[in-house]
This record gives sequence, C-alpha cells and structure tokens, in this order.
Amino acid sequence: RTPLVIDTDPGIDDALAILLALASPEVDLRLVTTVHGNVDLGRTTENALRVLHLAGRSDVPVAAGARDSLVYRQPERAGHVHGEAGLGGVQLPPSPAAADPRPAVTALAELLLAAEEPVTVAAIGPWTNIALLLAVHPEVAERIGRLVLMGGSAARGGNVTAAAEFNVWADPEAAQRVLGSGVPTVLVGLDVTLPTVLDADGIARFAAAGPVGATAAAVLQQYLDHARSAYGTTGVVVHDALALTEAIAPGTLGTVRRDVVVDTTLGAGRGQTLVDRRRVSDSPTAVDVAETVDGPAAVEFLVSRLEALSRA
Ligand code: BDR
Ligand code: CA
Repeated sequence: RTPLVIDTDPGIDDALAILLALASPEVDLRLVTTVHGNVDLGRTTENALRVLHLAGRSDVPVAAGARDSLVYRQPERAGHVHGEAGLGGVQLPPSPAAADPRPAVTALAELLLAAEEPVTVAAIGPWTNIALLLAVHPEVAERIGRLVLMGGSAARGGNVTAAAEFNVWADPEAAQRVLGSGVPTVLVGLDVTLPTVLDADGIARFAAAGPVGATAAAVLQQYLDHARSAYGTTGVVVHDALALTEAIAPGTLGTVRRDVVVDTTLGAGRGQTLVDRRRVSDSPTAVDVAETVDGPAAVEFLVSRLEALSRA
C-alpha cells in the first residue's frame, strides 16, 4: 500500500476525496494537512477532523498549515460554493480527536523522512503548504514519490476568473514555486475535472449504501444546488476526488510532460497556468499535465468505492 498524505481545504469535493482515499486499499492515508482555501484554516481543519471521524478514522492525524497565501492576502474564499462552514451546511458530529500540535510543514517533513518508501502527496487546496515544505525542508523533496496537484487549466480558462482556477488563483506565488520544484508531479486541472461529473443517480447509489454515504450525499446537496443555479447542470464536478483517483490508481488520466508557468502578475491573468502545449518537454521542471480522462469511468470508480465504504 502506497503511503499517502492529503493536503486539503475541505470543502465538499475535498471531503469526497478524503473518503475515497479511506475507501481505497491501494493507499495508506497516513496524514492530512490543512490549508486556507475554500473556507478559513480553522474551518478546513475542523472539517478534516470531522470527515475522518465520520468514516471511523479519527486515528489519522490532522495537522494545520498555512492561514494565508505567501504574498498577497486572498481577497475572497468559496463559501458561496461550499457553504459558509465548508461542508454544504451539514453539521457533522465533532471528532474526539484534536488537531496534531505540529505545524503541517513539520508533520509532513517528519513523515516523509521516516517513511520506508516513497510517499504520494495529493494537494487539493491552494499549494501554500507544499511551497513552504519545499522551501523549509528541501531535503524531503526526494522522498515524495508523486505529487498529485489539483489545480490549473490548460485550455479551459478559469473557474474563479476568466484566467484562473481556484487553487492556483488562491496562491499563485506558491503555485509557481511548486511547479518549478522538479518533484515528479501530475497536474490535474480543469481540462480533466470538468468532464468528470457526478450526477444525482450516482449520489443516490452511495446515499443508499449506509450512513457514511447518506451523509456524503447530504453534504453534496448544496454543491448540486449551486451547480444547478450557476451553470444549469444536473451534476457536480468532483475536482479533488478525480485528483485522488489518479493518486490511488496512477495512469487513470492521460498525461503529457509539459512546461508550465504561473502568471504571478497583478493583472487580469493572475493565477493562470500557462501550459506550453506546443511541445513535449524534457526539462527537469516540466510536469505531467493531465489532458485526457474517461469521465464516466472515473465517476464509477468514485461511486463504487463510496458504496463499499458505506457498507463496511
Ligand atoms: C478547486 O477549488 C476548490 O473550490 C475545490 O475544492 C477544488 O480543489 C477546483 O477549482
Ligand atoms: Ca479543494
């Protein structure tokens, strides 16, 4: 089982991603680190603890990380999408576990140094903690087997501004540092997440499988309502769960190695990922950009795993 860390800002699709990891025997979720993002750090940390508790896994440590982006204060969050408390207005029961006293960067570095094999790190919020980790503890970079990043967009434009996807937009300077780090990286952006749509039928399947699935379905309701009113769609895009699918089952997504830079200027393009699609790159800082996905198969993977977790 591959050791796994999830760096996250729950967040509705983050919560699904955590549940998917817990449902997957291929990986061993050893640590969850939290970051500012969809809601503030206090809430993302509390939500991570509660989601783990929901699945009966409050043994997994949760360490809180960055409260804010590296350079500029993030002007707005995503409470209108995820609910003001981050989990779609659903109050999950509090966990008996408290957050780990260590800062996220320390917990990550200690875990990576102690791990007996390369660790997969899935970063599904703004990448501030990962940038700090690589700046403060560069020696741990070689212990990361794969860094699976949810964020950015090559050809789809943005979802927060015309140019920027949320996780990159929320900390472009961190994103630039992480993408240029040379750690083996898969970039799971809007090009592959937008075609991966979970609809009401899929949600109903895990809702019927047991209390964990029913709670996950309740959490998804607000996300579904937002998608209906904002985009007129009948399903939800489960960005972070798709990134976890690639972390759990490498090769799920079709990738091409490309140079990527982030627009860190303060203009209209801030937070855009500029993916050089003219050529395949052999640069040591190039990343594997996810370009193709079988959306229905990825959704089936998520739904069937959540069904199994809920029945257990
Ligand atoms: C990303 O932004 C957040 O709102 C989601 O949780 C996901 O990580 C998608 O752009
Ligand atoms: Ca997220």
